Amino acid sequence: MTILGRHPEPPVWLYNLMARGPLAHRIYRRLVADLAAGLPPGAKVLDVGTGPGYLLGYLGRERPDLDLWGLDLDYRMIRLARRKKHAPGSTAQWLVGDALALPFGDAVFDQVVASLSLHIWPQRQRGLKELRRILKPGGRAWVYELKRESAAGDLRAFAREEQLPFPLVYLGFRAVSWGHSLRAADFARALGQAGEEGWRLDTVHHLFWRGELLG
Ligand SMILES: C[S@@+](CC[C@H](N)C(=O)[O-])C[C@H]1O[C@@H](n2cnc3c(N)ncnc32)[C@H](O)[C@@H]1O
Repeated sequence: MTILGRHPEPPVWLYNLMARGPLAHRIYRRLVADLAAGLPPGAKVLDVGTGPGYLLGYLGRERPDLDLWGLDLDYRMIRLARRKKHAPGSTAQWLVGDALALPFGDAVFDQVVASLSLHIWPQRQRGLKELRRILKPGGRAWVYELKRESAAGDLRAFAREEQLPFPLVYLGFRAVSWGHSLRAADFARALGQAGEEGWRLDTVHHLFWRGELLG
């Protein structure tokens, strides 16, 4: 079912519930490992479309030295993130804001990440330009989206590596990626519309695309 050609987002409470499930937990763990590796001490990190804040919560546990910022358009998500139940002791800063007009000056972040959010932005090309604008020289932007064209073999590989039952991974992925994922071609189109160059696109963790821009 679509509404005006778009798939409705799950309600905030339901997303929060899913984000606490075993599949999401495994995914966050992998993204945290990607992020934690190679960031210099004290690096300033922004998570755009942070949702209930799990990614930064787990990253903060792994790397308490980082200066973490989470931003979301939906104040209810930020309210959940601020409760910090999943990130006790976290010193992350949380704010309501729009990916299409980020409330930051130019060249202030060492790392910008947006996971499972770009597909919702009404003008993806504007958001991508914003990510570039706020990135420091030498910094890194990563945009992760579920890879809609993932095949059963990819899902099986993920399930095996994570020691999760294949049906759980299969059904979970198919349910979430229906309408909440992006084809590589969609990302390439947004880059083209923005006149953005310098991004590279890779398949990571079997189930994701990751767009990378080095500042
Ligand atoms: C599917 S959730 C992903 C949350 C989180 N990144 C994660 O991986 O769990 C997408 C989030 O993007 C946020 N979002 C959508 N459009 C946005 C925009 N223009 N600016 C900032 N956040 C936005 C939504 O409010 C939602 O919290």
